[in-house]
Amino acid sequence: MPDFPIPPQRYPIMTRFLHWIVAVMVIATIPIGVIMLQDGLSRPTQDLLFILHKNGGVLIFLLVIMRLAWRAAAPAPAMPSTMPDWQARAAKLVQGTLYALLIVMAVSGYVRVRAGGFPVEALDALGLPDFVPRSEALAERAQSIHATARFPLAALIVLHIGAAMKHLIARDGVFGHIWPPVGR
Ligand code: HEM
Ligand code: HEM
Repeated sequence: MPDFPIPPQRYPIMTRFLHWIVAVMVIATIPIGVIMLQDGLSRPTQDLLFILHKNGGVLIFLLVIMRLAWRAAAPAPAMPSTMPDWQARAAKLVQGTLYALLIVMAVSGYVRVRAGGFPVEALDALGLPDFVPRSEALAERAQSIHATARFPLAALIVLHIGAAMKHLIARDGVFGHIWPPVGR
């Protein structure tokens, strides 16, 4: 028996499952956010897109928090020994920043909506109180953070997917850290 812990070969099932749910939701939420602001949409279509975007964004926030809690409790798989140190550090930096930006997006979206006096239907249905005061100035500040943070978020997603594709093609085992989403 070795007297040191052996790093697992992949993330635990809960982490992998949440990674792919959040990935699909984020990849859908960004275009929905852009499309819902376009001129010429019918009122019912625009309302539906806003409802999907706001409530989906809140769900992403909750899943990211769960994901981080799970991540703190379970060790991450080790990078292959052939991977240069700077690449392993860059991967961790990109992944950490991705999660930070998701939290910034969800919180700024929530503040923009609540401070502007608008509903977040799922939270209202649960009877949750407003966590931010009504304030046009606050709503505007949050709106500008929300509109700006989407650019680094989109850029890092492209970088992250590009790196994942490189690992998939290289068959170095890194893609298998997070795939398949379910099963052993
Ligand atoms: C847009 C949504 C996405 C976000 C926010 C995201 C975020 C993350 C994060 C934070 C990790 C690190 C896991 C951890 O440290 O707990 C990770 C791992 C990973 N992701 Fe994504 N991801 C997204 C989409 C994708 C897609 C579409 C792919 C594949 C095409 C992918 C492939 C991978 C791979 C291979 C790993 C494992 C890398 C490693 O072991 O360090 N991700 N992702
Ligand atoms: C991770 C989650 C989220 C992502 C990736 C995201 C992304 C986006 C994007 C790309 C836009 C278009 C911005 C523009 O063209 O100016 C947008 C707009 C918007 N989002 Fe989000 N969003 C998220 C969460 C939320 C949440 C949780 C809420 C509210 C509860 C929300 C409310 C809004 C609103 C109201 C707009 C329109 C802003 C305006 O008035 O111009 N978003 N979002």
